[in-house]
Amino acid sequence: MLARFSNFAAIPGLPDGHPAASPRGLAVKFLLPDGGETDIVAHSFNGFPAATPEAFLCFLRSLPDAARLEALAAAEPAVRRFLDTPKPPPASYASENYFGVTAFVFVDAAGRRRHGRYRILPQAGAAWLTPEAAAAREPGYLAAELRSRLAAGPVALRLMLQLAAPGDQTADGSHPWPEDRPLAELGALSLHRLAGAPDAARPDLRFVPTSLVAGIEPSDDPMLLARTLAYDVSAERRARP
Ligand code: HEM
Repeated sequence: MLARFSNFAAIPGLPDGHPAASPRGLAVKFLLPDGGETDIVAHSFNGFPAATPEAFLCFLRSLPDAARLEALAAAEPAVRRFLDTPKPPPASYASENYFGVTAFVFVDAAGRRRHGRYRILPQAGAAWLTPEAAAAREPGYLAAELRSRLAAGPVALRLMLQLAAPGDQTADGSHPWPEDRPLAELGALSLHRLAGAPDAARPDLRFVPTSLVAGIEPSDDPMLLARTLAYDVSAERRARP
């Protein structure tokens, strides 16, 4: 298994304690015994500022203009919620809650289908810093913390699935399901060591939410196709700049 933690805004040199560095990302790749792969791409906000690719483009085009962003937030509840929800800096990449946002269809052996949304939660519970404490930390405190944490032992995470109730919408990742929906525990993830420089070892490394296995299918969320295409373009540009 490979995992990649990340900060939100793709601004090189942005300190980990900067407000624009949240939500944090966690991408996981399972390397399967048959040589295949399957990925989960999650971030630390239970939702998204846009429900469709077009709306996300509007959001991106409003950045970094505070007045345009505010005008968009006034018209788009998903943007308002994304901006207004506190996203405190984590004490560690390993002490943050991560949400898969996009629903998938899970098919059991009898062919029964049920929608679910991934969550990856720290076994030891979440822990955050105040914005002031994070701003006082070194710019790369999260990578440094992960390095020393892994030197002391594995990082344990819980892989969970929030299960939809009948009638829950499945096409809009910007809109979370009610918190009373059951959470199924799918398994445990154990991170043991830093992978070194993966970009050198595997320049085209990418995590793609539609890299699925039998029994897990895309939902009707239009973001899935947009994400798949965008992640491929990004990874190709990184591999062959
Ligand atoms: C819907 C909820 C979404 C979540 C939870 C999410 C989360 C993430 C995360 C965690 C990463 C870093 C992955 C890594 O380490 O390789 C990422 C990268 C990226 N995301 Fe998203 N994202 C979402 C939607 C979108 C959408 C709608 C687009 C564009 C249509 C998009 C475009 C990208 C791109 C281009 C990258 C860089 C990929 C790479 O360079 O490998 N994302 N996203």
